[in-house]
Amino acid sequence: MNIVQVSAELAPWSKTGGLGDVCGALPQALAQRGHRVLAIAPRYKDYANAWDTGVRARIHLFGHTHEVGYFHLEQGGVHHLFVDHPSFRRPGIYGDDRGVYGDNLFRFALLTRAALEAPLRVPLNGELLGEDVVFHANDWHTGLLPLFLEAVYRSAGRYTRTPAVLAIHNAGHHGTFDAHEFAGLDVSTRWWPAADMAGRLSCLKAGLVLASKLVTVSPTYARQLCQDQAFGLEGLFAHRARDLWGILNGIGEEWNPATDKHLEHPFSADDLGGKALQKAALQRELGLPVRPEVPLFGVVARLDHQKGIDLLMGAAPWLLHQDVQLVVLGSGGAAYEDFVRRLAREAPHRARGIVGFSEPLAHRIEAGADLFLMPSRFEPCGLNQLYSMRYGTVPIVHATGGLADTVPTWDPSSGEGTGWAFREFTAEAFVQAIGWALHTWWNHRDAWAKLQQNGMRRDSGWSRAAELYERLYIASYGG
Ligand code: ADP
Ligand code: GLC
Repeated sequence: MNIVQVSAELAPWSKTGGLGDVCGALPQALAQRGHRVLAIAPRYKDYANAWDTGVRARIHLFGHTHEVGYFHLEQGGVHHLFVDHPSFRRPGIYGDDRGVYGDNLFRFALLTRAALEAPLRVPLNGELLGEDVVFHANDWHTGLLPLFLEAVYRSAGRYTRTPAVLAIHNAGHHGTFDAHEFAGLDVSTRWWPAADMAGRLSCLKAGLVLASKLVTVSPTYARQLCQDQAFGLEGLFAHRARDLWGILNGIGEEWNPATDKHLEHPFSADDLGGKALQKAALQRELGLPVRPEVPLFGVVARLDHQKGIDLLMGAAPWLLHQDVQLVVLGSGGAAYEDFVRRLAREAPHRARGIVGFSEPLAHRIEAGADLFLMPSRFEPCGLNQLYSMRYGTVPIVHATGGLADTVPTWDPSSGEGTGWAFREFTAEAFVQAIGWALHTWWNHRDAWAKLQQNGMRRDSGWSRAAELYERLYIASYGG
């Protein structure tokens, strides 16, 4: 198949969270299965080795004609196209210090339209993909793709048999805008009802209504979207439940403790010696006492309401009275950032907080910590708990979405389980789960070693997911 994936983020070139990781990795796994895959994202910067194809498209949006270019880079068996336009070349992906960019509807509508033009205009190895493609859009940023497909192309006799799949990585963001902005999309008003959410323009809703198939990133989140976790779109998800698939994300090879370029002391399930050295190195780097026996907790997260940082704030006074260490890396909401900045002052021998975004430090925390905390309020899939398990770092998670699907609670009688998943979303339940973990750490070292092994030996590669996406694309031709 010819698969055209379109997204706002594409790691390693652009990323604010898991969306970037997944959109960077899934195309490679699909290419390994023999498909021709084109991954399209904005050209936010000048990317090394991406060359200007010279192809230009002129796209009419918001009352003007805009010219976009396409930069090409082939890597990992995947064609990458970066859409070039001045509105993409800014410090942030979605916004900067002053807030979210005011023209994001325009920017992402432009990306989406440029992506729809690509198979018709940009030759790959001398050949156009043409209309025989499956489009795979991701989140609200490209939620308008199925709408443009219908309104601009199918109504003009193009792409008449081309399916569009929409992947939902996070239904917490609908991409809603003032209704009057719809006129800027330059499509007939007869398409307005698809995008109309209580009188506002919703990019996600348009995609949910018009995509051939829908997919989200875990089976439990797929169910939750139809129940109570879609922020007002539950009815629509339930209506389309037959077309909604739940496929768990995998993780890429850059998250392999044996080959991780950010680690000084690589390790594997067969030899955890390097992990102890990484822990000591992390303690030194953070200026914490170098104590192998003390359990070191890690957190790496966008500091967002979604991530349950309020639960962490609720549990912290208790946690920091125990003989433990804690390191938190993240950026986001101001109140959460204050909490992170205060940690070292309030518990100088036990805690460190780093406000910012650092890929290398994220790897060193995953490797050096003993436990990882992820009390997310909701979590479509979650990647950090998967990284943790691969690094022998035992996760404590709220049992929701993909966390519920990937972290079975430790059962001492059967020796099964990879961490602790607490059910009630309360600080008390969170503290209780941490309590079980500490009890196991201090009193049952054999059990701890088994927990680590269970996590490290779990299959979290991309090949299973790629096979399921392939089936989804095939099904999308019928839908
Ligand atoms: P989400 O996509 O909701 O943020 P995921 O767990 O799926 O959650 O993915 C988060 C990704 O972003 C992981 O790769 C994680 O390491 C990374 N990440 C989040 N915050 C930071 C940060 N402050 N520094 C470095 N990496 C971060
Ligand atoms: C989103 C979700 C996260 C998921 C990621 C990749 O940002 O919040 O749970 O892992 O997308 O699918």
